[in-house]
Amino acid sequence: MLLGRMAGWGVLESDDDEKEPKDADADVNTGHYLSASLTYDAEKLVDEDTNGVMMSWEAEIMKRSVEELLPTPTKGMRVLNVGFGMGIVDAAFQARLGGGRHVIVEAHPDVLKKMEMDGWMEKPGVTVLQGRWQDVCSPPQPNLPYRTDILGSHTAPGNR
Ligand SMILES: C[S@@+](CC[C@H](N)C(=O)[O-])C[C@H]1O[C@@H](n2cnc3c(N)ncnc32)[C@H](O)[C@@H]1O
Repeated sequence: MLLGRMAGWGVLESDDDEKEPKDADADVNTGHYLSASLTYDAEKLVDEDTNGVMMSWEAEIMKRSVEELLPTPTKGMRVLNVGFGMGIVDAAFQARLGGGRHVIVEAHPDVLKKMEMDGWMEKPGVTVLQGRWQDVCSPPQPNLPYRTDILGSHTAPGNR
């Protein structure tokens, strides 16, 4: 469901960095996406062609997703989220984690800048891995709850 929306982007799994998008509706490959400027406002995060990366109307979906993954707030829980975007899901995780460990993987420099400005790099219990998940992550451990919001990935509930 979450990932279907991203299909138009083709953002994130392609290693075909040489391919140039033909127009705003064409698939956007990883290299193009990562070198494009992104712009935030209160309602959305968009790229140079005003393609939506994330929209605030998705907040309820993010919240429900967190409730599914962490039905009961449990002390010491560990969470991995790939793709910060507007930080909606990560804020929801923070509200539910109450301590524990929260790892966020983010590749886009403009998103990382925003995370820095908003203090995510210093939040207790939060580790930000800067780069593409393909480059900075080992495969998720069994039973580690994790979610991604990028094409070709999925969300899996787990225990710890
Ligand atoms: C749809 S947004 C995520 C929105 C987020 N769930 C929220 O609640 O605001 C996707 C994010 O994934 C990041 N991203 C895309 N490809 C990535 C990759 N290969 N590795 C890490 N992050 C990636 C993008 O820069 C973007 O910030």
